[in-house]
Amino acid sequence: MNSTHLAHNGPPGPCMMVIFGATGDLTKRLLLPSLYNLAKTKLIPEKFAIFGFAFDKLDTAGFRDHIEQSLKEFLGPDIDANIVRWLQERSYYASGDFQDAASYQNLKGVMEKAESEQGTQGNRLFYFAIAPSFIAAVAKRLNEATLSCEEEGGPWRRVIVEKPFGHDLESAKQLNKDLQSVLREDQIYRIDHFLGKETVQNLTVFRFANSIFEPIWNRAHIDHVQITAAETVGVEHRGGYYETAGALRDMMPNHLAQLLSLTAMEAPISFDADSMHSKQAEVLQAIQPIPENDVPSRTVRGQYGAGKLNGADVPAYRSEPGVAPDSGTETYAAMKLMIDNWRWADVPFYLRTGKRMAERFTEITIQFRRAPFVLFRDTPIESFQNNQLLIRIQPDQGITLRFEVKAPGPVTTVESADMSFDFSKDPANLHGTGYERLLHDCMLGDPTLFCRADMVEAGWRMVQPVLDVWQTAKATDFPNYAAGSSGPKAADDLLARDGRHWRKLG
Ligand code: BG6
Repeated sequence: MNSTHLAHNGPPGPCMMVIFGATGDLTKRLLLPSLYNLAKTKLIPEKFAIFGFAFDKLDTAGFRDHIEQSLKEFLGPDIDANIVRWLQERSYYASGDFQDAASYQNLKGVMEKAESEQGTQGNRLFYFAIAPSFIAAVAKRLNEATLSCEEEGGPWRRVIVEKPFGHDLESAKQLNKDLQSVLREDQIYRIDHFLGKETVQNLTVFRFANSIFEPIWNRAHIDHVQITAAETVGVEHRGGYYETAGALRDMMPNHLAQLLSLTAMEAPISFDADSMHSKQAEVLQAIQPIPENDVPSRTVRGQYGAGKLNGADVPAYRSEPGVAPDSGTETYAAMKLMIDNWRWADVPFYLRTGKRMAERFTEITIQFRRAPFVLFRDTPIESFQNNQLLIRIQPDQGITLRFEVKAPGPVTTVESADMSFDFSKDPANLHGTGYERLLHDCMLGDPTLFCRADMVEAGWRMVQPVLDVWQTAKATDFPNYAAGSSGPKAADDLLARDGRHWRKLG
């Protein structure tokens, strides 16, 4: 089921993972559970160390306790104590100020001691689980302290950078420049955890390892594409961050842009990282920037009001902690994009994402063109559906081809039938966080499922005109959808104007 570039079966060689922001939320929720899952499946290096660095005044013993508490909290009380101990025994901690050069000298000493105790041979994976404003400064300090420098034939040094990668196109470009001034591009791993999801990885295999889909994967056969990332969760404890981001920034230039790139890219010449990235970047660059005057008719923004989810009352966005009572931040965004190339000319790509929606539903829908209805004139068949290919990312993971069949019985009527492949039933599927695969790949030095600088910039370029218009013309109708619904009515109108409709949620 894995593609060639996915077939890394064994554990990577010795290395130390240095986590900046080791006491933060991301480490607790995702990084530590992923390391546990990797250890469980024996995909972690035999000689391995975790090095935590953060502001919090902790010592190594305190950090080891923190690891155990976090794993229990996020993976449940039944975790394997031997694996927890194994991780704890190779964990170290130093506290310090990310901006202060002296902290890095201290870090260097403790790090080298840990490396010699664990035999990690100087190979280092730096994970920046920190606020975006620190990223450039930390990379610079690491370089000054020679901690991230790679020498010919020496140990490897790689850096994983979390999103948000910049705040807009200009800041993303600047961040790329800052990072590239102290690291080589092949040392920089820009992570997008959607690329760690099984069905997303399967998309490339599905398209390019089968001969039956690619010939129809174009404007001659596809009517339009929908990409949906709907969540039932609200902003939870992240009101502070979300107020400065909003749904558009939070999801579109990164996660949805990556889904679009894999759906729409041309065939790469091989599955190696550069060939893949070039094709992904190319299609993102071919997206028509939405002209300023068209932003109102081609995009929709929304904010949830109070509503009901699974029978329970949920508050409005404006009543969430850390959110202004008159907030103008959108929690829903939809847009219609067009791609300027021969394959996709005139095929709309409709993207939508929102919080507190009726259902957790991440899916790519390929809607094929209608069969010539005229053939069925003078038959009892009054209507039928277009064929659809549903690439289900979560909560289900799989692929469904929906087509029309004759319903059994003496009268000829038509109904839809599904041919489905379900990933969730595969025992090899870890139900992990999505980060396992990506951490493992980075330790192996395979950047295929990470984002190259030009991909990130193309993602921002795709949304920049919308950010600009929304910034100047504030929304006046918020809240405009109820928590637990399928989004603002304007989003239905966006497709209705084109004689289409969204896949139903809930
Ligand atoms: C994150 C966003 O990048 O992705 C969150 O910041 C969002 O707002 C999350 O909830 C969605 O990821 P997943 O894997 O839960 O679909």
